[in-house]
Amino acid sequence: MNNTQHPDLLPVQYKIQQLFSQPVRLLAPMEGLSDPLMRQILTQIAYDLGRPYDWSVSEFIRVTQHVLPAHVFYKYVPELHNDAKTAIGTPIHVQLLGSEAQLMAENAAYACELGAPAIDINFGCPAKTVNSHRGGSVLLDEPAVLYEIISAVRQAVPAHIPVSAKIRLGYTDTSRMDDIRSAIADSGADWLTIHARTKTQGYKPPAYWEKIQTFNSLKIPVIANGEIWTTEQAHACMQQSGTAHLMLGRGAITRPDLVARVDNLMDNLINSSADNSVNTTAGNARELSWQALIPHQIKFLEGQAKSEVILVGRYKQWLGMLTKGYSEAQTLWDDIKREKNKTAIITALKMSAQ
Ligand SMILES: Cc1cc2nc3c(=O)[nH]c(=O)nc-3n(C[C@H](O)[C@H](O)[C@H](O)COP(=O)(O)O)c2cc1C
Repeated sequence: MNNTQHPDLLPVQYKIQQLFSQPVRLLAPMEGLSDPLMRQILTQIAYDLGRPYDWSVSEFIRVTQHVLPAHVFYKYVPELHNDAKTAIGTPIHVQLLGSEAQLMAENAAYACELGAPAIDINFGCPAKTVNSHRGGSVLLDEPAVLYEIISAVRQAVPAHIPVSAKIRLGYTDTSRMDDIRSAIADSGADWLTIHARTKTQGYKPPAYWEKIQTFNSLKIPVIANGEIWTTEQAHACMQQSGTAHLMLGRGAITRPDLVARVDNLMDNLINSSADNSVNTTAGNARELSWQALIPHQIKFLEGQAKSEVILVGRYKQWLGMLTKGYSEAQTLWDDIKREKNKTAIITALKMSAQ
């Protein structure tokens, strides 16, 4: 390796070794949920708690007929204006969804020209409109197309830029898992994220973490995803899937400190086995109280959106999810569920600290 080379230009294999030298913690792509504003807030919280996300992935950008204009990429990934990083420096990978290999390749190459640090390809989306156009999870039934798309993108994208795929366990069932694994193995994908459910299983618990093991024979890193809401579930997922790499989805929205607490628990377990005097329950430093979360919620409400109505709607969506993680959120929800005025909501939010 040439030591003077900029880290962004390192050969992809070396870069991947570096990226995965420790267990990675990722914020999942979630259309309409982990949008640029939410990414700013959640990556900031993780950073402040001492366990920044290693990276996050954009909401999917749908590729249908042509190479998308730059403004579309910037709309989904405004971080491209900031070296493809959130304010505190968390990289954002660009996710594409489509079924035409050549078109996907051209769009991926263009995204890289605009500064994408990595390209992720979506083979998990269950949406009817997307699937009826042969995009997303429906392609899990066509492993040959999966292979074509990933390998075309891999060839089109500069050699130092990683290309990854995100899949489910199958479309209607898990019977094609071996074919999917072979397609991925030959495609040149640099890593694989697996949402441990089929499309038919939607987003309902449980997730079948143990099925991820089938993919561990691949020579690339495997990232486990699905139904991780607590530190205990994170650890069960790592154990059952046989991979230490995790992507957090809805659990990261309901408990923005989850990412930090997962590794706090790990650190404590390691310390306690090395030194019996360490108290494994002492480490709450990475827990985020409701009071500490309030300024972040205010920041969210002060963020950019097309209109106040949209922003308030988005905030209520978040608050609704926070009720799963914080009892205080329920009281606030009862107070503001009919409130449309942002300033009134901020006032109620501040009051909820008392
Ligand atoms: C509202 C919503 C939108 C999603 N949008 C995307 C997306 O754009 N791209 C993608 O690969 N996965 C998407 N997903 C799937 C998540 O990335 C993740 O795989 C899934 O939620 C399972 O993880 P969880 O159980 O921890 O939430 C979405 C999930 C939700 C709930």
